[in-house]
Amino acid sequence: MPDWNRIFPDADHRWIMGLRRCESVGDYFADVDPTGAMRVERAEWLADEPHKYAVLLPGAEPALRETVELAREWGTTVEAAHDSFEQLLHLGRAWEPDFVWMHPGEDGVYRLVGGVVCFPSVWAVTDKLGKPMSFVHEPVPELNSSIGRQIDTFLKNQSPGVVWRRENWSLSHENWLNQHTSRSRRRLHAEVAADDVWIRLEHQLLLKLPISESILFGIRLEIVPLPVVLDDPTATVRLTRQLSSMSDTAAEYKDLLNVRPRLLKLLRVNQLNAEGGRGGGDEGE
Ligand code: HEM
Repeated sequence: MPDWNRIFPDADHRWIMGLRRCESVGDYFADVDPTGAMRVERAEWLADEPHKYAVLLPGAEPALRETVELAREWGTTVEAAHDSFEQLLHLGRAWEPDFVWMHPGEDGVYRLVGGVVCFPSVWAVTDKLGKPMSFVHEPVPELNSSIGRQIDTFLKNQSPGVVWRRENWSLSHENWLNQHTSRSRRRLHAEVAADDVWIRLEHQLLLKLPISESILFGIRLEIVPLPVVLDDPTATVRLTRQLSSMSDTAAEYKDLLNVRPRLLKLLRVNQLNAEGGRGGGDEGE
């Protein structure tokens, strides 16, 4: 069960670093989907349009080699390949999480140099290739001005081998893993029902690789139906606070501006029901 207290902080909404140390990296990349469907789906997207979901600049090749070695040490079977792009595809099929590498240029600025992103939350890895963090985060309103410098400093100061974790959340009308910008999806709307709202949790991992000195950034997606939060009174209160305190620009970026009143109503009705029906609320009240 996700740790909602961490995912929805007990504070007004703002963009946060939200980093915490983590002991083991192997567990993060170990398979958790007992059906294997997640990896089957990754293989399908990579077979259909490999260059849409997998990218590799020459500067990422040392990181690719090092990561494949580490993946094998952590217990993943990664097929060997003759060329680097094929090797990248093997790794992309072998792991459930997405991953990219950030590598510093001569100017010390970290740029996205390669990776496999089959399950993006409305972005495209090809748009970010070769770009610095400030460009990667440019669509997020006021992120660069609030925590952009902290992110750059964090990346520069990261110690090799030390593992960090953090989470991002978003809400969606679709429960698809792959929300690449090229796929048209239904948007949340003013009549949406609670069980048609999905929370996309991105469990992220940051690790500076000791040899290549690239940063491995993992993105493990978990999709949770909103009613799971509604079953948890504390999580309900905290999500309510996040949504109601969010600036309009942030809500617009998260595609929540128009649906926010509806979501707040669903959360409030749920709270009233949990408190014993004060006001007798149901969805139609
Ligand atoms: C300490 C490091 C980082 C922090 C604190 C951070 C923080 C954030 C935050 C707060 C958001 C907004 C998410 C939301 O609420 O909707 C975001 C979005 C995003 N981040 Fe990061 N991030 C970090 C590292 C990275 C790295 C290494 C990448 C590499 C690809 C990355 C890629 C993205 C992308 C693609 C988005 C969505 C941007 C878009 O809509 O185009 N982030 N990040």
